[in-house]
Amino acid sequence: MSRVIAIFNQKGGVGKTTTCTSLGSYLSYLGKKVLIVDLDPQYNATTGLGVLNLHGKTVYDALIGREEASRVIRKTQLANLDILPASPDLSGSLIELIDVEDREVQLKNVLGGLQSGYDFILIDLGPSVNLLTINGLMAADEVIIPVQCEYYSLEGLSQLLETINLIEEHLDHPLHVLGALLTMYDKRERLSREVAKEIRHRFPYKVFDIEIPRSVSLAEAPSFKKPIMFHAPQSPGAVAYERLAREILGEEPPEPEEKEESPVLHSMPEFRAPEKREEGPVRQREPERVPEPEPEPEEVREPEIEEDPGPLMIIIHDEEEEEMGNLDYPQDRQT
Ligand SMILES: Nc1ncnc2c1ncn2[C@@H]1O[C@H](COP(=O)(O)OP(=O)(O)OP(=O)(O)O)[C@@H](O)[C@H]1O
Ligand SMILES: [Mg+2]
Repeated sequence: MSRVIAIFNQKGGVGKTTTCTSLGSYLSYLGKKVLIVDLDPQYNATTGLGVLNLHGKTVYDALIGREEASRVIRKTQLANLDILPASPDLSGSLIELIDVEDREVQLKNVLGGLQSGYDFILIDLGPSVNLLTINGLMAADEVIIPVQCEYYSLEGLSQLLETINLIEEHLDHPLHVLGALLTMYDKRERLSREVAKEIRHRFPYKVFDIEIPRSVSLAEAPSFKKPIMFHAPQSPGAVAYERLAREILGEEPPEPEEKEESPVLHSMPEFRAPEKREEGPVRQREPERVPEPEPEPEEVREPEIEEDPGPLMIIIHDEEEEEMGNLDYPQDRQT
């Protein structure tokens, strides 16, 4: 059986798709068979992974029962990474599903037939709460919540917790929040540091120790139609997502930093944790750990490429070049 993880935050532009494609790529690089489900009519995960599916079938066809999901799945540049692609017509499924019985669990039914083929299924959700989002959360057992390190993120967190509560309580579907993932973190910006500290202090679920840095390489990778590991494998953003993948595979996380109250932020929005369900310690449940394959130390491993994606451009960065705001692309070096 696969672990089905939804990447969810109803706030837009917080790094959901970047997390989904980067984490999915590294999990597959580390030897796992991964399916990404693009459940966002913006279809950013689909295009970002270089899958041009303009006239092909999409997750929409599978959702409304017009096509077998296995016939919709497309391969990516990574042999172990497949995608159930989206297209703009996915928004039409909102209307078509409305009269369907059990409309909240259509994706769960679709994925049911695919589980044996994958170790991980990652669902990329759009920036809203609608029937598609509900389908994504109902199909998932676990949730990762990317949170951008900016003030407005804090304001959206209560709403987000309410949505998770709604799924758990009203639709009776236990969700294990694997953790909030701090994204676009800039350690040189005081606000970024303070927001991160506040979330670590107040968020009622785990917050991953790994912070995803603000990284120009992560921002530009989709325009090259490549996962970050092909585009800039040594960039800080790539390294952070690889560490996240290893943590999710069960490697011991690093020691957490000491958490303090924020001296900078004055009007902090309240996070209201959903009340715990009496019948089960759902949130305390340990995620099922997948044994990690032995890493090969010294050797620099090439990711396994199924189709020839053309000459592999590896862009070498140093930390300084990773600053957003410096929009000059770093110097390319062909390897
Ligand atoms: N760590 C990062 N550093 C720099 N840019 C980033 C980072 N993560 C994401 N981005 C960029 O920020 C923008 C929003 O990211 P992304 O598309 O992953 O967010 P999203 O939550 O999926 O958005 P939406 O809610 O619209 O689906 C994109 O242009 C992306 O390339
Ligand atoms: Mg997105």
